[in-house]
Amino acid sequence: MEAELHRLQTEARAALTASVNALGLEAFRVKYLGRKGLFTTVMRALGDVPVAERPRLGKLANDVRQELEEAFAAREAELAGSQMAVGAPRSDLTLPGRLAPFGKSHPVTQVMEEVCAIFEGLGFAVAEGPDVELDYYNFEALNIPPHHPARDMHDTFYVSDSVLLRTHTSPMQVRAMQKAAPPLRMIAPGKVYRCDSDITHTPMFHQVEGFLVDRKVSFGDLKGVLSVFIAKMFDKKTPIRFRPSFFPFTEPSAEVDIGCVICKGEGCRVCKKTGWLEILGAGLIDPAVFKMVGYDPDAYTGFAFGLGMERIAMLKYGITDIRMFYENDLRFLSQF
Ligand code: DAH
Repeated sequence: MEAELHRLQTEARAALTASVNALGLEAFRVKYLGRKGLFTTVMRALGDVPVAERPRLGKLANDVRQELEEAFAAREAELAGSQMAVGAPRSDLTLPGRLAPFGKSHPVTQVMEEVCAIFEGLGFAVAEGPDVELDYYNFEALNIPPHHPARDMHDTFYVSDSVLLRTHTSPMQVRAMQKAAPPLRMIAPGKVYRCDSDITHTPMFHQVEGFLVDRKVSFGDLKGVLSVFIAKMFDKKTPIRFRPSFFPFTEPSAEVDIGCVICKGEGCRVCKKTGWLEILGAGLIDPAVFKMVGYDPDAYTGFAFGLGMERIAMLKYGITDIRMFYENDLRFLSQF
């Protein structure tokens, strides 16, 4: 029986070390220390040993049992520290891991990148200019002298008499033409600012300016480029029309409408039952602007256009309140 006790002791020590979680520990307890466990079985043999031997073997058996119980308790405490003890919440290692949340571009940024990619595909270079702009570039060089009525439309934030937050990206026409001789084919994306706020206006919004200068550029070229752009940006079959308009820096000028992308021209609330949506201003660059930058207006012609990014994003995604873009609500933003 003595040999049997020692064998059991060695085996149980090894089994305890091999138990690495709550399930293993419980199985150990049942197998060795339980009421019908191996230890109880060995103890039964005590009745068969000679009386003289009983006290010694009884003590040995008690010592072994005590040692194993203490070792069991210690192992249980150890595993509890790593949250795997009996009754503690267990980790299910078979579950897939949790991914860290990915951020992504703002919907307006996405639309702006898409617009730029389309024009880059048509050979337009991309240039960016300052948000804090001189009155000269924002107005004067664009044929809008002081006190010109067109200034009223712009709700300008002034920094000083001659410095302002640009109200449109058109000043980039002047900056680019001053820097390089024609031919020129560029787009200028960026932020613009106007003191205005309601469901279709925010004090800061985004535009992409586009312009092309060369010999013999015609209104037909403008229409061709814009038609390709609209077809790529919206549906291929989206109709496009030009309405006469006025901008001081283009002559002739036009506002460009596309067939309503919501009702497909049937007439709805978004297009105010007209079937058309205005999406950009455009025209042939006014010779007065060419003179400002030192281009010869008799040798060169060009077209220009200005697109509002929020407007396009709203139409593309059916958003009715422009302010949602700037409330930073992740439930809104994560949809795009
Ligand atoms: N800059 C104008 C605006 O913000 C839009 C515009 C109209 C740009 C006609 C152009 C253009 O380049 O030719 O209201």
